[in-house]
Amino acid sequence: MAEDFDVRLAEKNYVPDPSYQQNSWLGDYQKAYAEFQKDPDAFWDRIAKELHWFRPYSRVKEWNYPYAKWFLDGKTNITYNCLDRHVINSRRNKVALIWRGEDDCERIYTYRQLFREVMRVANGLKKLGVTKGDRVCIYMPMVPEQIISMLACARIGAVHSVVFGGFGAAALNSRIAGAAAKVVITADVTFRRGKSIPLKHIIEEAIINAPSVEHVVVLRREQTQPVEIHKEMEIDFYDMIKDVKAECEPEVMDAEDPLFILYTSGSTGAPKGIVHTCGGYMVGTYYTAKNVFDIKENDVYWCTADPGWITGHSYVVYGPLSLGATIVLTESTPDFPDPGVYWRMVEEFGVTILYTAPTAIRMFMKLGEEWPGKYNLSTLRILGSVGEPLNPEAFEWYYRVIGKSKCPILDTWWQTETGMHMITTMLGEPMYPGFAGKGIPGVVADVVDKDGKSVPPGTGGFLAIREPWPSMLRTVYNDDERYRKYWNTIPGCYAVGDLAVKNKAGYIMVLGRSDDLIVVAGHNIGTAEVESALVSHKAVAEAAVIGKPDDVKGNIIKAFVILRVGHTPSDKLKNELLYHVRITLGPIAMPSEIDFVATLPKTRSGKIMRRVLKAKEMGMDPGDVSTLDE
Ligand code: WTA
Repeated sequence: MAEDFDVRLAEKNYVPDPSYQQNSWLGDYQKAYAEFQKDPDAFWDRIAKELHWFRPYSRVKEWNYPYAKWFLDGKTNITYNCLDRHVINSRRNKVALIWRGEDDCERIYTYRQLFREVMRVANGLKKLGVTKGDRVCIYMPMVPEQIISMLACARIGAVHSVVFGGFGAAALNSRIAGAAAKVVITADVTFRRGKSIPLKHIIEEAIINAPSVEHVVVLRREQTQPVEIHKEMEIDFYDMIKDVKAECEPEVMDAEDPLFILYTSGSTGAPKGIVHTCGGYMVGTYYTAKNVFDIKENDVYWCTADPGWITGHSYVVYGPLSLGATIVLTESTPDFPDPGVYWRMVEEFGVTILYTAPTAIRMFMKLGEEWPGKYNLSTLRILGSVGEPLNPEAFEWYYRVIGKSKCPILDTWWQTETGMHMITTMLGEPMYPGFAGKGIPGVVADVVDKDGKSVPPGTGGFLAIREPWPSMLRTVYNDDERYRKYWNTIPGCYAVGDLAVKNKAGYIMVLGRSDDLIVVAGHNIGTAEVESALVSHKAVAEAAVIGKPDDVKGNIIKAFVILRVGHTPSDKLKNELLYHVRITLGPIAMPSEIDFVATLPKTRSGKIMRRVLKAKEMGMDPGDVSTLDE
């Protein structure tokens, strides 16, 4: 497989303009990597010193396999680096955030304005009794208040747990209860494709079995018919900050204090609350925003991810703001009111760096070149991709149609757990379509066998990381056992859970997950979660779920369902099951196909063999089925 792509490289289509590297923050990749290898701690120390610390750290790292501490004894606050620093210095009136709503309404915040709003919300949360270490759940649409709420939590040392607005009540409940959140911040509605979709009733249902919740803060957006606020527990977002001061000193945080929890699907059972800390995460996201994206003073940087995912945490909010960048945020869907909205925004705002997902790129490919063709995209200088493999066809289209064959493409591989970019092709390095690239300076990435030994180019293996890095997860909230598993599965390595292959140049192509996670349109969905949602319906006896390749979304969810006695297959029942998953887990976890079956392939110990189902579905050889119970 790797050979095929070496042939493509021989065409020399993707050797970038050397000026990109010459003018970049990082400069020569090889040189930077060598500097890291020579002395990893000195490398990270040099970067961390570019940020503000209330008290300098005494040591860069302490590594007691599998536990790492970074920037020991250092005191800081990430919001000081994202806000105060810029306001004190020359970026006071620089635009920090441009927000565009669906109906073309706009809100713009300078760094000073954003700073004031963050401090007001921070004071509002304090008024509700939130203090350092308390967990706050943020379940909001993509509006400025979503980002402001995150920063406000960080300001006072509260640990935010942002839940993507597309999750349903049960998924939200398990995340609120899991983190024992004291306060939930939400909105009445989200706007999508011209319609307003109510959110508040989902929260009301989600907090029924979540006794930790003391207050629900509601951002009311519907002007004509404002939702009612239940006085005992709920408070209007702007009422909360009506009489508060716009001054709030940053809480002094230890580098190893938790900054946030972010839930990600696990391959078995409940979602995992990934814990990131103040110091290491700050350094990792700052370093990569600066050196991978090469964000400069005049850039207009747009990452299309929802801040509810890690991509939004690291590359909408913390990374770019710590650099003092101008960021773009929109609630618009890419094809409403027409498939030109994104490109219109690139033209109007003069976007220079665009970071999006392969699933969106493939959707744009289908919609046709005439849409981007209508707009002037000449401001773009760098294009990024994240969330799933960027297949060569999508790479070529992105490069040619959007980047006009001049913009380097950064296919960035990383995870909720890694906090920051880990593998990509740094600016100026040759690009091999289909291959994300190599470990960035600071990261030792490899493709290995089950014993942790490197496998040769062209041979598939497990993607693994060999050394700790500052923004690595520190634990899984309330489940450290699951944390240790990341480092115990492959000797000496952090086991990523992806399959990969290298080419002769050492570039890594990610092939997909090695476990029971399905990456659907760039979002991780655990088969176990969807199966248990299906089984919670009264008509379902058993369910198995697989990912089926799809040329736009990467994968779609296909479910196989055994009905209970007394229920018969019908289209009506199919729709009912889909609806059931939709309200339980949310639209993102909804299967695209459901088959009613009489049996499911199982091992003798009773485990469903999803790979057998998948092979059958795709007309492939199921491989070793010796454990299959006939
Ligand atoms: C997949 C998203 C191929 C991979 C930042 C990983 C990718 C999982 C890429 C993490 C990429 C992410 N190429 N696959 N460039 N980026 N993935 O936690 O399977 O939502 O393990 O973090 O997405 O997804 P997560």
